[in-house]
Amino acid sequence: MTARIIDGKAIAAEFRNECAVRVARLKEHGVVPGLAVVIVGEDPASKVYVRNKALACEAIGMHSEVHTLSADTTQAHLLKFIATLNADPDLHGILVQLPLPKQIDPRTVIGAIVPEKDVDGFHYHNVGALVAGDAAFYPCTPWGVMKMLEHEGIEVLGKHAVVVGRSNIVGKPMALMLLNAGATVTICHSKTRDLAAMTRQADILVAAVGKPRMIGGDAVKPGAVVIDVGINRLPDGKLAGDVDAASVAPVASRITPVPGGVGPMTIAMLLGNTVKSAERAAGLGSAAETRIA
Ligand code: GUN
Repeated sequence: MTARIIDGKAIAAEFRNECAVRVARLKEHGVVPGLAVVIVGEDPASKVYVRNKALACEAIGMHSEVHTLSADTTQAHLLKFIATLNADPDLHGILVQLPLPKQIDPRTVIGAIVPEKDVDGFHYHNVGALVAGDAAFYPCTPWGVMKMLEHEGIEVLGKHAVVVGRSNIVGKPMALMLLNAGATVTICHSKTRDLAAMTRQADILVAAVGKPRMIGGDAVKPGAVVIDVGINRLPDGKLAGDVDAASVAPVASRITPVPGGVGPMTIAMLLGNTVKSAERAAGLGSAAETRIA
C-alpha cells in the first residue's frame, strides 16, 4: 500500500474561497469582517506567522490590523489595549500571538479577550464549550484537522483515534473534537510507555509532538490515516513533520504532507472563525454555520 496524500493546501484554498463568498455577502450588509492580531516582541517565527495571517485576511477582502508592541510591554498595558480592541465594533476577531514575553501571563491575557471575539478558541469559555460538545470557536489547528477528515470522507465515528501530544493548542482540543465526533480516543505524550504499542492501535493517528520524524512505519497500523501536525526546522533549514513519511507512506492509507498538510488549514480556520464572528454580530449566522462536528 502507498498512502494517498491529503492535500491540505488545496482543501484550505477551497475553504478560503468559501470564506470569500461569505465576506462578499457580509459586505452587501455593510459589514467588513475585521481581525486584530497583537504581537508582543520581535520573535522572528511569530512575525512570519502574523504576517501570513494578515495577508490571508486581505486576500479575501477582510480588514486586518497588526499591532506590534515592544518586548518590555507590561501586562497592565496589554490588558488595557485588549479592552480597546474588545470595544471596537469593527473588529470581530482578536488574536494575541503566543508565546508572550515572560512578564506577561498568557492565561490572564487570553481571559481578557471577550469570548465572542476569541477566534483562537483559547478562552476558558470556548474551551468549556468544546469540552461540553457545544458550538464555539474551536482552536484552529485541530479544527482544521477535523475539516480535512470531513473533506476526505474519512469516517471518525467508532474509529480508534490516537493523539500524540497534549498541548492546549493542539493535542487536548484535538482529542476532544475526535471524541465529540464519536471516536474512541487515546491521548499519548512524552511520558507514555511503549508509545509504538499505542500508536499501532490507531485507525486515525494524529502526531503533534514537535519532534522531527519520531513516528516511523513500525509504529503505524496498516491502512491507518496519519495526520502530521508537526512542523520542525532541521539543521539544514528544511522542514520535517513529526512523522517519518518515507517509512509511514508504504503502511498508511492516507497521510498529510509537511509542508502543505495541516499548516495551511490553520490559517483557513482562523479566517472561518472570524467570518463566523462577523456573521453572528450582523445577525446573519445560521445554525449550520455554528454547529460542531
Ligand atoms: N502560536 C503558535 N500557534 C498559535 C496559534 O494558533 N494562536 C496564537 N495566538 N499563537 C500561536
